[in-house]
Amino acid sequence: MNNKNHQPSIEEEEIVQQHVKDYIKELLPQHQGLLKELEDYAAAHHVPIIQGEVAALIQVLVKTSKAEKILEIGTAIGYSAMIMAEAMEEEGRIVTLERNEKMVALAGENIRRGGYENQIQIIPGDALETLHFLPGDYDLIFMDGGKGHYREMLDLAISLLKPGGLLISDNILYKGMVSSEELVQRRKRTIVHRMREYLEYITHHRELTTSIIPIGDGVALSYKKN
Ligand SMILES: C[S@@+](CC[C@H](N)C(=O)[O-])C[C@H]1O[C@@H](n2cnc3c(N)ncnc32)[C@H](O)[C@@H]1O
Repeated sequence: MNNKNHQPSIEEEEIVQQHVKDYIKELLPQHQGLLKELEDYAAAHHVPIIQGEVAALIQVLVKTSKAEKILEIGTAIGYSAMIMAEAMEEEGRIVTLERNEKMVALAGENIRRGGYENQIQIIPGDALETLHFLPGDYDLIFMDGGKGHYREMLDLAISLLKPGGLLISDNILYKGMVSSEELVQRRKRTIVHRMREYLEYITHHRELTTSIIPIGDGVALSYKKN
């Protein structure tokens, strides 16, 4: 990227250099069974599930925080919900919000096949509405729904998070577009603009201590102060 005339493409400008990603991918144990099947399904059907290194980070965070109640915004096929459930104790509970009916059905089936139906509850519908009537006190919230709506959901999400709880936000660097104007595709301008506002907000919020981690597509960890 030292050539001044070189216009980086989105593919080239991943957040982490490809050889580093490949190395980490090879190093981490590969999933087997249903999780591997879901990874293959997601790749074949372009469903944007969390990347392997992010899955590993989330499992470490779920285990170290000993989270008993988790809220997820954006279920898709139920992959990340099962990644989190796997890291929780059996009594742990996850509520996950999804507005796409096809995804709700697919996730429901996958969660049943994984044997997590007692641990993971899917609430169908738009999270922007569901968040208003959801009872609170979550130990961990995973923000992974519509990228343009993180900011709109944030205040409600913070109010549902216990003091001492953790908010994890995925895709916050959005293929490098958030940090580089050169990379912003025209049709993504609004999302990128909103994501920048979101990052400004969570990094300066008086109730949060936030760290931005450039792995996967960018992950923010925000601790809610006691
Ligand atoms: C990135 S995918 C979630 C991936 C999933 N967390 C995983 O890693 O396995 C985002 C999902 O959020 C859903 N979504 C987007 N906006 C939403 C909203 N306002 N309310 C509920 N679900 C939403 C989309 O339909 C999509 O399935």
